[in-house]
Amino acid sequence: MKEMKNKFFITTPIYYVNDQPHIGSAYTTIAADVLARFHRFYGDDTFFLTGTDEHGAKVEAKASDNGMEPKVFVDDVSEKFRKVWKELNISNDNFIRTTDEHHIKAVQNTLQYLYDKGDIYKGDYKGLYCRGCEQFKNEKDLVDGKCSDHDKEPEEICEESYLFKLSKYSDELLNKIKTDKFKITPIERKNEVISFYEKEGLNDISFSRQNVSWGIPLPWDKSHTAYVWADAFLNYLTGLGWDPSTGSASSPQASSGQVSKFWPPEIQLIGKDILRVHATIWPAMLLALGLPLPKLLFVHGFFLVKGKKMSKSLGNTITPSQMIEKYGVDATRYLLISAATFGRDADISWEWLDEKFNADLANGLGNLVARVSNMLEKNNIELELISSKENKYFEEFNKLIDNLQLDEALKYIWSIIKYQDEELSTKAPWKIKEADQVKTILAPIAQNILDISHLLSPFMPSISEKIITQFSQKKVKKGESLFPRLTL
Ligand code: MSP
Repeated sequence: MKEMKNKFFITTPIYYVNDQPHIGSAYTTIAADVLARFHRFYGDDTFFLTGTDEHGAKVEAKASDNGMEPKVFVDDVSEKFRKVWKELNISNDNFIRTTDEHHIKAVQNTLQYLYDKGDIYKGDYKGLYCRGCEQFKNEKDLVDGKCSDHDKEPEEICEESYLFKLSKYSDELLNKIKTDKFKITPIERKNEVISFYEKEGLNDISFSRQNVSWGIPLPWDKSHTAYVWADAFLNYLTGLGWDPSTGSASSPQASSGQVSKFWPPEIQLIGKDILRVHATIWPAMLLALGLPLPKLLFVHGFFLVKGKKMSKSLGNTITPSQMIEKYGVDATRYLLISAATFGRDADISWEWLDEKFNADLANGLGNLVARVSNMLEKNNIELELISSKENKYFEEFNKLIDNLQLDEALKYIWSIIKYQDEELSTKAPWKIKEADQVKTILAPIAQNILDISHLLSPFMPSISEKIITQFSQKKVKKGESLFPRLTL
């Protein structure tokens, strides 16, 4: 039996609203949803947070390109994210927007606290800024003078700014990362972060901008707005309803109990492009606030199209809506999670998706369920199967999920499907006349179908529920086709 009733708090990054959702953002969200559903399904007290990141120069510029007021523009795009997540059956417990009044207040109170504490101070800041990343860049980060993620030259910024004392937390953070007190996986990502700390160290960083009006004004100097990442990171706290103004005077955030029973996150999922900020600025802010660090930062790779990162600017995106239209919701979830070894890049194309759909879903799971239910109905067989979440496959499956090997967990289920297919072919019950003997062959296969459907439930919530209902009846009936085969 799995030990239960732990708390489980998982977050996705909050998405910039300069773009419509594409399958890159859907990937992180579906993966988080699978983990949240898995923990909820087995009894953990779970909180799953996602949302949208709506301030900053990039979003401001995009709104202006569209001839819209920033707030009208962000309302519109944020709603699109919310809608797509609903369509994808994402079970988030909150959807935080950085334009929420409550978030804005909390950001102001937090920054004021850090300013009063001396962790934020006035200075001049000079640096190269990539608006695509909303990050300052070192010369070393550039390829031919350009940001490699956005293929653009960063702009030079030299202005009065309020700086955050990031350098102060360098040693403590490096130590926590090395000793896994703040764990980063996969291991190569952890090593990359350690090497960054050791080679370059942490320098104080600009936490405010004078020329970006679409942002949260600093409470003590309204001619500055908060740096968009300082604002965005705090979503992980405000998304739990956190309000720093209700804490004690000396440290408003002194104990995790004051944030929420869910703090700190068990897992924060992020893509590799936002690792450095999540492994430096973010935990440093938490240390400055006296709050516990997240337990695990899990870094996944990118979806690539012919070797290039899928992105709106390259015009090579596939959207979740396009996939849902073609394959249905659960198949879209399945295809995206199977497309990559969790933690690594993967090339993706419509051809690959079509073939995978036909092979694994139409010919695999769909066909097995159809054949078995059809024969059970035809032979009028009565079954008494046991319907249990913690069946014989659970332990192995649970291990893979705990290790965050989501694609491997699916492969494991598909190895069971393949074995059941082989059983059917070798035992060929359709050639047998006696109903009793047919039952002897089909009952264990039906039991296996029921077992794997329970495991599949966090990945494919609707389809697995359908199969569970279908195979929990005494007399199983052939249902509608789950995954109609695509003609390619
Ligand atoms: N707003 C920031 C995050 C702030 S969190 C405090 C941001 N937003 S984003 O919309 O640009 O990216 C959000 C996530 O989507 C990142 O984890 C990023 O890695 C992921 N993806 C964006 N494109 C992707 C692919 N092509 N493939 C896989 N994931 C990618 O960064």
